[in-house]
Amino acid sequence: MSRKHDWDAQGYQTNAGFVPKLGRPVLDLLKPQAGERILDLGCGDGALTAELIGAGADVVAVDASAEMIAAAVARGLDAHVADATALTFEQEFDAVFTNAVLHWVRDADAAIAGVARALKPGGRFVGEFGGHGNMAAVVTALGAVLKARGIDVATVNPWFYPTPEAYRERLEKAGLKVESIALIPRPTPLPTGMAGWLTTFAGLFFAALPEEDRAVAQDETVELLRHSLCDDAGNWTADYVRLRFAATLSS
Ligand code: BEZ
Repeated sequence: MSRKHDWDAQGYQTNAGFVPKLGRPVLDLLKPQAGERILDLGCGDGALTAELIGAGADVVAVDASAEMIAAAVARGLDAHVADATALTFEQEFDAVFTNAVLHWVRDADAAIAGVARALKPGGRFVGEFGGHGNMAAVVTALGAVLKARGIDVATVNPWFYPTPEAYRERLEKAGLKVESIALIPRPTPLPTGMAGWLTTFAGLFFAALPEEDRAVAQDETVELLRHSLCDDAGNWTADYVRLRFAATLSS
């Protein structure tokens, strides 16, 4: 049975508040225009949705997490719980924007099909998420820690990090013309270190273990990563690689 990640809006702000802050280049690529109707796919707590509204767009925001949607609604946003693989919008958006969420969506074709249905002819799909090689050291360390306990990481890894070539093919198959797509290495300082990052994002890996083993397994993962991702002063930097793209639905 595939499990779902538990989102904690407060922990997210503490351990990963940099995510919306680093989403600025995706907004710049989208170039939202006043009066446009935009879908924010995977809005989280709505920090970037608010920026789209600030640009004058009329924005509908969706996210799979009820907890994140509650935080977005508390900001006064038009935000709804929805599964990215089962979008029900029909030709109503000038653009679909997405930041730092599609690496959680393994059924990429279902998500892209829903986006293509949601767009008006000529509408834009612009976004960024983890691409091939994203968090490579972290995934390798998690794999080693689980393997030592008899678990194959592939059976619990929820993340999808495609190459530009593979994702382009999926977009084109759904009738989207790719304007740009590229991998962008982005070493990212972690404000609360690797332990904070793992606590917020890697729960599904440790959930495969008996509860009493989880804390030790997380500590082991941190120690395996220290050599590569922590500097002499104790600052942690994650090996993020973004896949950034802009595509247009054929008219
Ligand atoms: C990312 O933004 O690349 C990411 C965030 C959380 C988990 C995995 C990847």
